Amino acid sequence: MNQNILCIGAGYVGGPTMAMIALKCPETRVTVVDVNAERIAAWNSDALPIYEPGLDEVVRQCRGRNLFFSTEVEKGIEACDILFVAVNTPTKTFGHGAGYAADLQYWEKTARLIHDCAKGDKIVIEKCTLPVRTAEAMSRILHSGRTPHHFEVLSNPEFLAEGTAIADLTNPDRVLIGADATPSGRQALSVVADLYARWVPRERILTANVWSSELSKLAANAMLAQRVSSMNALSALCEATEADITEVAHAVGMDSRIGPKFLKASVGFGGSCFKKDILNLVYLCETYNLQEAAEYWRQVVLVNEWQQSRFVGNILQALFNTVAGKRIALLGFAFKADTGDTRESPAIRVARMLVEEHAQVVVCDPQALANARRDVADLGDRVVFEADPYAATKGADAVAILTDWTCFRELDYGRVLAGMRQPAFLFDGRNCVDHEALYELGFSVYAVGKPSRSRLD
Ligand code: NAD
Ligand code: UGA
Repeated sequence: MNQNILCIGAGYVGGPTMAMIALKCPETRVTVVDVNAERIAAWNSDALPIYEPGLDEVVRQCRGRNLFFSTEVEKGIEACDILFVAVNTPTKTFGHGAGYAADLQYWEKTARLIHDCAKGDKIVIEKCTLPVRTAEAMSRILHSGRTPHHFEVLSNPEFLAEGTAIADLTNPDRVLIGADATPSGRQALSVVADLYARWVPRERILTANVWSSELSKLAANAMLAQRVSSMNALSALCEATEADITEVAHAVGMDSRIGPKFLKASVGFGGSCFKKDILNLVYLCETYNLQEAAEYWRQVVLVNEWQQSRFVGNILQALFNTVAGKRIALLGFAFKADTGDTRESPAIRVARMLVEEHAQVVVCDPQALANARRDVADLGDRVVFEADPYAATKGADAVAILTDWTCFRELDYGRVLAGMRQPAFLFDGRNCVDHEALYELGFSVYAVGKPSRSRLD
């Protein structure tokens, strides 16, 4: 094995990205370490800790050959030449910047551990998403004291989306590597670029200065989320005017300057990163006294929260302004299809708001029930969990589709309707089923950004 790579953090990013490097660079030894022993045990088992289409196959091919999962963080640091840091960087929940700034404690612990355990020079790569200029702090920590070693800190943010991680990693739009314009920076950059060049065309491997690279990651997420919030803001206007958001998105997206992707109105965006990264951007803007810029980005998050409240408001209004004691089936709890991840899923807020209204909530999801149970554990028996969608919707007054899983699109809605209390309501938070057909079947149908089809009119 001619290179020894270590990744600290075996999460949604560390696991799949390292599995892909191991797959494409069979002569490289790749070790992924984590302090979470349960997670590492799962990576070493047949039941991987995350659900991601195609991931099992990649891990099966490489694990034990040149891909290893371990809890031996210190040993891993000693042995590696190249080190990726993919630990979590959540929003701070305490002290200065609470609710906005990135909580860098896990990242800093890692930096100090690298400093303490390294026995030679290393390339240290920020894989996690960090505030702009964090590499500077990392370099200071790594070089503190009288360390004889040189650490070259690079930024290589990850752009994969959950649910499509393997496809995104196999065929990325771009790989971004930020490095210092020093001889050692350029040397490290070429080592990392060569690694990706094993399967990514050279023209898609972008280089930048470290600060641009760090900021580009926040910027990309903010702009993606902003598109969704723009469409969601327009969806409210569509509902008020009988315009149809799908038609508007199609017309707008045909403009080649705008493009058709990421224009789907929904119950709101979720996921561990959009909200966190935008709030991080807001905090950065405020730190540099750029109040207007901060307010601009903050609005993307506020519109997202408003959209979720609006969705529940629509349910309440349609169900004669009371859902107390009514059974409401939530089809989908994951923040998007093809993942079991529920972090910041709009379903969490929707479930909570419905319980506040004294509804009896039933949650159904093909991959996310374990996470959902944890997310709303404090709601006790006001939320129940059911893997079978027909059982979940049985006796329900309303069905709300919150994740666009294929299995929910393909349900036998005649059977669903027959099991429900009448009149039966369907709220499509993902605009993913045939509203006309469901209305004809007998549902009152409410979609996002579309005229409602109420059977009681
Ligand atoms: P995660 O919470 O799934 O995984 C992080 C892992 O790091 C955890 O298993 C945790 O135990 C481990 N860890 C924390 N401190 C550690 C330490 N000192 N030593 C060893 N292990 C430690 O997080 P994630 O979703 O993989 O995200 C990681 C980073 O990547 C974040 O900065 C995120 O913003 C960014 N990112 C995430 C995605 C995504 O799709 N989830 C995509 C792009 C970028
Ligand atoms: C997002 C980005 O797409 C990735 O490039 C980035 O690497 C990642 O965040 C990250 O930094 O964590 P992810 O959150 O996994 O990826 O999933 P997305 O496909 O971006 O979806 C995010 C949310 O937006 C989902 O809830 C999705 O349903 C919603 N969405 C997306 C819409 O409501 N409408 C759309 O048109 C697109």
